Amino acid sequence: MKILALMGSPRKEGNTDILVDTVLSGAMANGHQGEKLNLYDLNLLPCIDCRNCKNGDKVCTRDDDMRGIYPKIEEADVILFGTPLYWYGPSGPMKLLMDRLLPYSETETLKGKRAVLVIPSAEGADACKHVVTMFRLSLDYLGVGIADVLLPTAYERGEIAGNAEELERAREIGAAL
Ligand SMILES: Cc1cc2nc3c(=O)[nH]c(=O)nc-3n(C[C@H](O)[C@H](O)[C@H](O)COP(=O)(O)O)c2cc1C
Repeated sequence: MKILALMGSPRKEGNTDILVDTVLSGAMANGHQGEKLNLYDLNLLPCIDCRNCKNGDKVCTRDDDMRGIYPKIEEADVILFGTPLYWYGPSGPMKLLMDRLLPYSETETLKGKRAVLVIPSAEGADACKHVVTMFRLSLDYLGVGIADVLLPTAYERGEIAGNAEELERAREIGAAL
């Protein structure tokens, strides 16, 4: 099984990054393939609602790094969305990537795939309910089911590395995929 991890925090070795790596290592220990993309390292343009993906040949015509990401999304069995909570929503690049999934609302390309959400925040799980709903409704629209959700509490860079319980849960999520 192929797992594509979309890492939407600017902090390398921050909480999202550590948790995403831990989910991936749990999955890879069980024989799955994993790949991580750091969204902040990529050139991602915003969706401009040009409607080419709806009316034309059903593809996005924006010329940026999404051209390389679309095939990876299509090949993946599981997509891991990792983002810190930013003002009760996802980080900017993660929202931008979500918007760029619009072409798949016209096709059934993503139908049957599964997703995992990893969202650390200072306030913890309760504060994440709206962003989880955003992911759930959007992914449901695309036919993608949410396999698991991890919403740990952490604030400082790398703080989560000291939380053995959440790391174990991340590893288990990966192993159970
Ligand atoms: C711009 C910004 C907005 C944030 N908004 C929230 C928020 O609304 N609620 C919250 O609990 N934490 C908020 N945080 C804290 C981060 O979610 C938290 O520090 C998280 O662990 C960062 O993950 P990272 O280490 O992967 O970057 C915010 C941080 C930043 C930089």
